[in-house]
Amino acid sequence: MPSVYIKTYGCQMNERDSEAVAAQLVAKGYTLAPSEAQADVILLNTCSVRDFAEQKALNKMVNLAAETRRTRPDVVLGFMGCMAQSRGQELIDRLPDVDLVLGTQKFHRAADYLDALLAGRREKIVDVAAEPGSEATIREHLLYGNAAKNGDGHRPPLPVTAFVSIMQGCNQYCTFCIVPYTRGEERSRGIPDLVAECRQLVSQGVKEITLLGQIVTSYGKREGSSREAKAEGREPENFLPSTLDPRPSTSKSPFVQLLDAVHEIEGLERIRFTSPHPKGYGDDLIEAYARLPKLVESAHLPVQSGSDRVLKLMHRGYTRARYVGIIDKLRRARPEIGISTDIIVGFPGETEDDFEQTLSLAREVEFDQAYIFKYSQRRDTPAAEMPGQVPQKIREERNQRLLEVINEIGRRRYDAFVGRRTQILVEGPSKKNPARMTGRTRCNKIVVFDGSERHRGQLMDVKITRAGSFTLYGDPAIVNL
Ligand code: 5AD
Repeated sequence: MPSVYIKTYGCQMNERDSEAVAAQLVAKGYTLAPSEAQADVILLNTCSVRDFAEQKALNKMVNLAAETRRTRPDVVLGFMGCMAQSRGQELIDRLPDVDLVLGTQKFHRAADYLDALLAGRREKIVDVAAEPGSEATIREHLLYGNAAKNGDGHRPPLPVTAFVSIMQGCNQYCTFCIVPYTRGEERSRGIPDLVAECRQLVSQGVKEITLLGQIVTSYGKREGSSREAKAEGREPENFLPSTLDPRPSTSKSPFVQLLDAVHEIEGLERIRFTSPHPKGYGDDLIEAYARLPKLVESAHLPVQSGSDRVLKLMHRGYTRARYVGIIDKLRRARPEIGISTDIIVGFPGETEDDFEQTLSLAREVEFDQAYIFKYSQRRDTPAAEMPGQVPQKIREERNQRLLEVINEIGRRRYDAFVGRRTQILVEGPSKKNPARMTGRTRCNKIVVFDGSERHRGQLMDVKITRAGSFTLYGDPAIVNL
């Protein structure tokens, strides 16, 4: 049977999509190649959020094509995901060695298309059409990977954490962002379907589930308050089936209803989600943090800028004061909460004064971690045409200045853990040093400690002995030895 290698660029949604495609191919008899050098099919799952990510994948494909066409001309080469969606046929026009271009609503077609290409029934395939219902096709998990399939008697240990795709698409249309064009309109899966997937994962040993979507807090909004329902004067449908919650639930957003339903699953220890949008942090969600013990003390809440003027230009839909108000409420509900964020520097028209407001916001909120992005012009987005594009040199300089502030705050917040005891969920060997194990605190900090495979999947108390750069080091607390 053919073997496949998938290389993933970009976000956790992409990681999840790649996993679902891999699982689909394994189910059809494909094997997973340990490296691209041994694969019959090589797929690049791409990211379009910044130009840099696109260039990386394009360069990779140029190199792959040069190598494989010389020595292994039958290897099938494909692009999938966001750049495949936004560039389509253009990718094959530019790189004629590419055989397959698979858009973001077509992942479930991968096996059929690859079969056709490998059998020589078709020469090139580009499919970037919209497909209703495709949001519910990202459901297969690759818990055992290849070994389960090969039955070679050596099963790798089950993963402790899993990602579940609850929705696709985005309707926010931030002026800098290409995602609404690559991922399409918001479409959500139903609660019973999602609960069944989560239950299945938990029955296979998963302890922590991360609910994934481009804007998870918009989950079910379009379905729940559909235009037709309004036009017909009906109450929008409750997204939760009555079997799960007999009480009418009008005050809870569909996302909080989903959290409630997943929380019920016995054996599940922790729930995370990413990414929310600040506008979706209503009191029902804050209250969920106070009410649901499995919902961990962690929020990745992209702020993008500390300047109201820039937030408006970005079309973010909140002010700095509203954002800070949400953080205050979250910290009141869960004082230990870890807050991370995304920030863009050098958005068109960003002045030194605007940027200083971002610096002051970082100091005011004291993020545990922040991902800083230099603004990158994306095709067809309004910001790409805005006046006042900021020179690259200034973007870099602001990136550096903000990084220093973020690192200094991070260091302080991580140092504060030294000497404390905290609960971690052990995920597996450390990537940097496989002789050690890593776990994660509820507030989403990585802890490295001397442990062994028998700790995998355990919730254990560790004493933090040292803090490194966005990493903690710990000793298992005596009680657990
Ligand atoms: N330029 C730079 N960063 C961007 N992001 C999204 N679009 C752009 C862009 N055009 C960042 C945002 C988002 C993160 C995933 O990527 O900060 O939250």
